[in-house]
Amino acid sequence: MPSQNSPPAFAYVGEDDSAYFRVLHGRKLNVLNTVYLLPVDEDEVKRSDRYHRLLQFVFHGHNYIGPVKEVLQFGRQRRILDLGTGGGSWAIAMADEFPRAEVVGVDLAPIQPRYPSLVFELCDLDQYPIPYPDGYFDLIHARSMHTGIRDYPSFLREIARLLRPGGLVHLIEPDLYPVPPISNVSSPVVTSSADRGSIAREQRGWIELWETYRSCLRLQGIDVSVPEHLSDLLSDTGQFEKIVVQDGNIPVGFWPKDENLLTVGQLQWMDYELFLPALKPLFLSRGIPPSQVDRIINLAQHDLYYPTTCQSTRLHIVHAFKRWC
Ligand SMILES: C[S@@+](CC[C@H](N)C(=O)[O-])C[C@H]1O[C@@H](n2cnc3c(N)ncnc32)[C@H](O)[C@@H]1O
Repeated sequence: MPSQNSPPAFAYVGEDDSAYFRVLHGRKLNVLNTVYLLPVDEDEVKRSDRYHRLLQFVFHGHNYIGPVKEVLQFGRQRRILDLGTGGGSWAIAMADEFPRAEVVGVDLAPIQPRYPSLVFELCDLDQYPIPYPDGYFDLIHARSMHTGIRDYPSFLREIARLLRPGGLVHLIEPDLYPVPPISNVSSPVVTSSADRGSIAREQRGWIELWETYRSCLRLQGIDVSVPEHLSDLLSDTGQFEKIVVQDGNIPVGFWPKDENLLTVGQLQWMDYELFLPALKPLFLSRGIPPSQVDRIINLAQHDLYYPTTCQSTRLHIVHAFKRWC
């Protein structure tokens, strides 16, 4: 995992990085696709590293949940693909954990450090085919990246093509709706519209930010309901079996009493601290006036810094095997 001593992000890029990045409203964005309008810069690398650490706490020190070891343990050299790898934290952790595996990370932008035994490739995963042969990978991981994929069902069919029969897909997507808290991240909770209403009264700025984010994503052609439907979407391809859903709530901030949950809450809070200003290019490019964008982000920051409720966010985690026939 990149640390303070790691080589800087952008290790693959020279002085002139204009072939890989464009600047939009003061932040660096990718040049490969116009759908994904979150920045791909050092703050986003920092954010994705925080998120990786957060999930390691959620997974009790592991890099995944599910039968990953089983699909990687026998026979020939195993191959792992990380789609939308960001700063590459997960791919690096997997290369460390499975030193004999070939690990490939793919993203829209070269924001990964150099790392021995790891290959990082540039590719728009919203365009098909993804340039690997059928059945090439044993494990495919895609985390927090549905907001750059307009046609998620086709994306899943492409994952099925790239996996060998019996190979494993591991999908993790945070919800785009804030939810009330629960006491244990591993226990699912149902959120009713009444719950959502009560948050709305308490945390208007927070709610408005998420509503604005969802509307902008819809205008970008993104299906914002993908996270809550991962299992159905996998099932609809007809190419996966033994689909396991492990959804849960992640606390935001400093309210949990449990030590592990408190760490998770702090990391999620730190993630959001970077996430809120990162939304600016998307909001502005969807035509929201600058003063309104500032107001929306400032109010959400106020709700993050001075929360009046115990905030949570919902996380959707699914794994499934590629069918044998
Ligand atoms: C929020 S970051 C998550 C990074 C990493 N998966 C993690 O969990 O830390 C989303 C990443 O997905 C990448 N991404 C989004 N849409 C993509 C697309 N269509 N093709 C390739 N990468 C994409 C972005 O460039 C960004 O680095």
